Amino acid sequence: MIECLVDIMCNLVVVKNRKIYKSLNLTNFMDIHKKIVKVIDYELEYVEALGYINRPVYHVRKNNIDYILKAFDYTQSWERRHIDIEKEVLEMSKDVEGITHLVKDYGVIKNEHIAILKEYAEGQEISYVTKINKDKFKKQLKNTINDLHDLGVARLDVEERNIIISPSGIAKIIDLGNCKFKRNLNKHEFNAEITTDFEDLKSIFE
Ligand SMILES: Nc1ncnc2c1ncn2[C@@H]1O[C@H](COP(=O)(O)OP(=O)(O)O)[C@@H](O)[C@H]1O
Ligand SMILES: [Mg+2]
Repeated sequence: MIECLVDIMCNLVVVKNRKIYKSLNLTNFMDIHKKIVKVIDYELEYVEALGYINRPVYHVRKNNIDYILKAFDYTQSWERRHIDIEKEVLEMSKDVEGITHLVKDYGVIKNEHIAILKEYAEGQEISYVTKINKDKFKKQLKNTINDLHDLGVARLDVEERNIIISPSGIAKIIDLGNCKFKRNLNKHEFNAEITTDFEDLKSIFE
């Protein structure tokens, strides 16, 4: 019953889902997530589940430092692909500013999970941030997008829920799991993805 409810909800709701867990009293569901975090790395402390309710991204902590653990279902090709892409992009982008970098690659665990640990971006999604500094953020994001394009990566999913603004005013793109690589596209296709990224950036600030 709960699984069914969760399945229905996950198609409808994309939120900071801690509130949903609480309101539905899905304590068991949270326990499952806490266990998954421990299976991946017993040193990680579970803080909360974020993102889609059926495929959360974990906010975790180790030695008082916050991280994001992406631990997806290895048996699902789409989820496996998401992690593989994000890992490859992050490995190429160690010197790129304005993203949350790769901290650890856990690889495949028990043929069930595929996981990476990333830097945690403290702050708020860009949609919650006042318009005053938007020009500054747009400039920062444009630089980050240009850097990634130069590395041969595009279709960066530049949308509000993937951008976090830190308390000190730094914009970060936090989800690079849907990118496309230049090597897999012809010139026209890659340029089209570049255009999409800049259109997406523009639409955030309209
Ligand atoms: N590095 C990060 N720092 C802070 N919050 C993050 C980070 N990565 C993800 N999140 C939060 O988790 C949500 C889902 O993560 P995301 O990587 O976008 O996965 P997906 O969109 O595939 O569910 C984001 O919208 C954001 O609220
Ligand atoms: Mg996302």
